[in-house]
Amino acid sequence: MTRVPQGSSFKGMDREKLLILLKQAQRESACISREFIVETARSLDMPINEIYGLASFYSFLSTKPQGRNIIRVCKSLPCYLQDSGMIIECVQGVIGVTPGETTADGRFSFELTNCIGACDIAPAMLVNDDVHGHLTPGRIKQILKAYK
Ligand code: FES
Repeated sequence: MTRVPQGSSFKGMDREKLLILLKQAQRESACISREFIVETARSLDMPINEIYGLASFYSFLSTKPQGRNIIRVCKSLPCYLQDSGMIIECVQGVIGVTPGETTADGRFSFELTNCIGACDIAPAMLVNDDVHGHLTPGRIKQILKAYK
C-alpha cells in the first residue's frame, strides 16, 4: 500500500506531484481509498475535498475498487463517427456489465473515456495500458479473452 507522505518536504505539494502519488496509490491498491485520502489530507495539511476532487476528476483514477483489468472505450467524436456505440454495446454483451460497473468476479471494470490518442485507428479502446484499434465485435471477443 502506498504510504501517506510524511514530513515537511511534502508540505505545499503541487498538483503534479500529488497526481503521481494518487496514481501510485491506485496502482498498488486498485483504487484510491477514503482512508488514504483522509490521511494524506491530514499529513499534508490540505483540505480533504481538494484531494478527493483530484482523485475523482480524472477518469484514470478511481475512488471505487476496480477489477483486475480496466476496459476504457473511447467516446470522443472521431471514435463516435466510427461507431463506438456498437463497440460499447459489444463490450457490454461480452462482459455483462455497463460502463461504470465491475464484473462480479472482479475480472473487468468497464469505463468510457475521452480520446486516448488513437484516433487514426478508431474506434479504439484501452485495456489496462494496451491500446486496441480498428475494433469490430469479433476482435473485441478475441482481445478480451487474453485478459484473465
Ligand atoms: S477520438 Fe477515440 S482515440 Fe481519439
